[in-house]
Amino acid sequence: MCGIVGAVAERNVVEILLEGLKRLEYRGYDSAGVALLQADGTFSRTRRIGKVQALADAVDASPVLGGTGIAHTRWATHGGVTEDNAHPHQSSDRIAVVHNGIIENYETLRSGLESQGYTFTSDTDTESIAHTVHSLLKTNETLLGAVQQAVARFHGAYGTVVMDKEDPSRIVVARSGSPLVIGLGLGENFVASDQMALLPVTRRFIFLEEGDVAEITRRSVSIFDANGAPVEREIIESNVEHDSGDKGGYRHYMLKEIHEQPTVVRNALQHRLVGNDIADNVFGEGADAIFASVKHVQIVACGTSYHSGMTARYWLEEFAGVSCNVEIASEFRYRKSVVLPNSLLITISQSGETADTLAALRLAKEIGYSSSLAICNVAGSSLVRESSLSYMTRAGAEIGVASTKAFTTQLAGFLLLTMALGKHNGMSSDTSNEIAHALHSLPAKLEETLTMTQGIEDLAEEFADKHHSLFLGRGDQYPIAMEGALKLKEISYIHAEAYASGELKHGPLALIDDEMPVIVVAPNNELLEKLKSNVEEVRARGGIMYVFADKDAHFKGDDTMRVIDVPHCDSPIAPIIYTVPLQLLSYYVALIKGTDVDQPRNLAKSVTVE
Ligand code: F6R
Repeated sequence: MCGIVGAVAERNVVEILLEGLKRLEYRGYDSAGVALLQADGTFSRTRRIGKVQALADAVDASPVLGGTGIAHTRWATHGGVTEDNAHPHQSSDRIAVVHNGIIENYETLRSGLESQGYTFTSDTDTESIAHTVHSLLKTNETLLGAVQQAVARFHGAYGTVVMDKEDPSRIVVARSGSPLVIGLGLGENFVASDQMALLPVTRRFIFLEEGDVAEITRRSVSIFDANGAPVEREIIESNVEHDSGDKGGYRHYMLKEIHEQPTVVRNALQHRLVGNDIADNVFGEGADAIFASVKHVQIVACGTSYHSGMTARYWLEEFAGVSCNVEIASEFRYRKSVVLPNSLLITISQSGETADTLAALRLAKEIGYSSSLAICNVAGSSLVRESSLSYMTRAGAEIGVASTKAFTTQLAGFLLLTMALGKHNGMSSDTSNEIAHALHSLPAKLEETLTMTQGIEDLAEEFADKHHSLFLGRGDQYPIAMEGALKLKEISYIHAEAYASGELKHGPLALIDDEMPVIVVAPNNELLEKLKSNVEEVRARGGIMYVFADKDAHFKGDDTMRVIDVPHCDSPIAPIIYTVPLQLLSYYVALIKGTDVDQPRNLAKSVTVE
């Protein structure tokens, strides 16, 4: 959620730190700060409420210099959005700390430290890290030793970077529950919570593992595992696109990412779908052998990724004949569930670092799932590394907080998975060919769907002054209605709820009046007639309908029903196609309302805390 960048170099690192923060800003944007060890041996610390630009302006106004530094962009957990609560936090003008995650026992730590005479200047859990390390330096000769001893006292999740004024040649970092990646340079080294932050300075990375503590100097990186034993971690050459931090001429990242969907879906399918077959090892080495015995699938995910799991359930059961259960990760991780024999656990995540999804995976291993598949967009992420199988969605970096292309590439991956599991479960070649044919047509259909932009811009005007909305769908379009509602609420702040349209008369129908727009997703499928009846139920009660429909569905528009034509497509890909106009609708409503599309209030990308 928050973003961390740190550097140890000969040169002044302030620009590197600020650029890194800008690249991580989508992860947290309440406040930001930077601390540097200056050549005269003093600390300089600058913190500002608001976006990283406010911090950059402050640094411009009073320039600071230093070769060792740490920086942070915050998404508040403990303590409000104030300058005092912004990181870095200091102890006794000697230690400076940045931290992602939550130290759950911070109150106990705090009272112990206060009784030792430490004064707290913030309401954060992080400040207790700074004072704990400082107190342990009284009995430890090195910062590394103090941090190693300190982490044993912390309960909760942390990715933390610590700097000591008495030793400007190094920083010490620790990871438990919140990711950290070390970037290797020439005569300079870096650390960040995400490789994206460091792409302008290096492409060589070491992903720290759970429990690792590392000491980073200009010329060396020494890593110690949770038991304090020195360990070697693999150096990975990143192939993430360098320019993925640019908006590429679009007004917002979200719009750019919506328009990238045909290209990224094409990339995702390339060399994976060959003719009507799936290439070997698409889901990782050994996947075929595992899939041969799978009789049940349990999917866990959060938010938009959960909606893709909900959609996949329809496909896995209908096309592949594999029973499937889908659960929100934060629920799954805290309840006792029954593990059916021959079950495959599937986690879905754009970031691969979502705390609840990761915890659900770890729990699943403990309770007896023998294999797990991560459907993920970030190679090297915790979820990918900790799963037995993985499928990379190849959506490219997604910066807009509202997930778009990650979702549609997840769905494309699920159609491939449906074919792969169906192969072992008696799926007919007709069905398999139908899915393959639909998938081949998907990139071009997405391009065609994006031409709906003009009509949707006009439609958005009608939503901008509304306070509530309902989204309806049936079958595999029900999760798409849920996703449409999530998009609208998160970026335009209009209250939006989704219902399976058959459920309407069991309560929600009471909400219908002419102030409540009702959005319906209506491809021409076997549930169309049922859906039409539900539409009539709303119309009869004065509701205003916006029906996204296939021309062949023959909806007749009038004063109470706007019909928006969606390009005709094969049924297996209809959920993916109908997602796009709903993404565009949310985007243009948000644009008209003037909200912060890429960084909506109270949210952050990659929810690495519970
Ligand atoms: C909504 C959105 C979130 C994420 C959710 C899970 O647009 O982006 O709901 O989908 O926080 O994140 P990942 O997919 O990274 O696990």
